[in-house]
Amino acid sequence: MRIILAGPPGAGKGTQAAWLVRRFRIPHLSTGELLRAAVEQGTALGRRAGGFMKAGQLVPDPLMVPLVLERLRELGPNAGFILDGFPRTRAQAETLDTALAERRLPLDAALLIEIPDQLSIERISGRRIDPATGIIYHAQFNPPPSDLAAGVVQRQDDTVPAVTARLAQYHAEEAFLVPFYEQLGLLRRVDGSGTPEEVSRRITVALGKADA
Ligand code: AP5
Repeated sequence: MRIILAGPPGAGKGTQAAWLVRRFRIPHLSTGELLRAAVEQGTALGRRAGGFMKAGQLVPDPLMVPLVLERLRELGPNAGFILDGFPRTRAQAETLDTALAERRLPLDAALLIEIPDQLSIERISGRRIDPATGIIYHAQFNPPPSDLAAGVVQRQDDTVPAVTARLAQYHAEEAFLVPFYEQLGLLRRVDGSGTPEEVSRRITVALGKADA
């Protein structure tokens, strides 16, 4: 199965991707995670991307597109994947479409997880991450176990100004991504409110796998 995961900050893309990986045993390719790892390691990409990310702005296409194409080339024939956070610009969407067509790797769905802006801000401001495992928690909705609570961290771009910028950026992306994938017959809208389990159930239905 080949899926694109899109939605505003805090929609639950990372949370649901972790569940999809367990449920369908397909690899997860998150551009946000790739970039955060590059920043952490201090690579040339990380040094160029870090400032954009901290401000909640998109990393420019000339840095992003080759990174994702390289990862896609590493996948074997008939490979499945969950592509989380890409595409986010028209150029990214068109390049991805061409690259997948050339490799005969058609997408099964573009899942758009939708939540209101206020919920986005609540989820992002409470997000905590275990740096050792990458497991995502939330200070109120899904608190870390007490033995991990002191070690969890906040993402550098989970500040109110950065989230506000990311939300505005997302609404601009949504305006072209929705018609782009609607026209291809791939868009599946999923209500991202409620518990993670409720959202996972809606995703299963949206993918037509409710009986699988
Ligand atoms: P990216 O990492 O993709 O960030 P994002 O899209 O803003 O999404 P988030 O990771 O913030 O949210 P999420 O939907 O994964 O939510 P999560 O599951 O963690 O991108 C970061 C930056 O990298 C961008 O701003 C940009 O600079 C750059 N970038 C990335 N891709 C790029 C591209 N293609 N082009 C250019 N630049 C790019 O959940 C959030 C919180 O809510 C957690 O605490 C979680 O526990 C909680 N939660 C989740 N679901 C539920 C639920 N159902 N109920 C209660 N709590 C929940």
